[in-house]
Amino acid sequence: MRRVLELLLVGLSAPLLAVAEGDAERGATIAASRTEGLCVLCHALPGIDARLAGNIGPDLAGVGRRLAPAQLRQRLLAPQDSNPETIMPRYGRSEGLVRVAASRRGQPLLSDAQIDDVVAYLASLR
Ligand code: HEC
Repeated sequence: MRRVLELLLVGLSAPLLAVAEGDAERGATIAASRTEGLCVLCHALPGIDARLAGNIGPDLAGVGRRLAPAQLRQRLLAPQDSNPETIMPRYGRSEGLVRVAASRRGQPLLSDAQIDDVVAYLASLR
């Protein structure tokens, strides 16, 4: 019985735990970009001149040691889950945004593939 339960749990949790492999190098470019990720508006990133980066959010150096990939993904997709008051944008959301350029309407800030890349980059910051 116990074995059956274990198998059931593994079967159920595997799809939830699966974290797609992103490309850390592409993620670094997205995070530093002032037209894509815009993370530097609020965060210091390793290798970016600190005078050109914001300090509203925590310095992301070493964040891959502090948070697991699933937590990093959650910070990008639903930062309000860890702090309902946060000003960090929900990067996977496409509804409820205001003053969106016509060419970007209906699109999330970052695509699923871009989020995979940024998660891979953040996980590499040790
Ligand atoms: C408008 C400001 C803003 C932008 C833009 C922003 N963040 Fe954040 N972020 C924050 C703040 C503020 C926090 C602190 C958490 C909170 O508010 O509770 C945070 C927290 C985080 C954390 C958790 C860090 C830790 O040590 O706990 C990660 C990871 C993160 N941000 C990644 C990103 C990435 C990657 C981008 C770009 C794709 C980004 N953020 C863009 C404001 C921002």
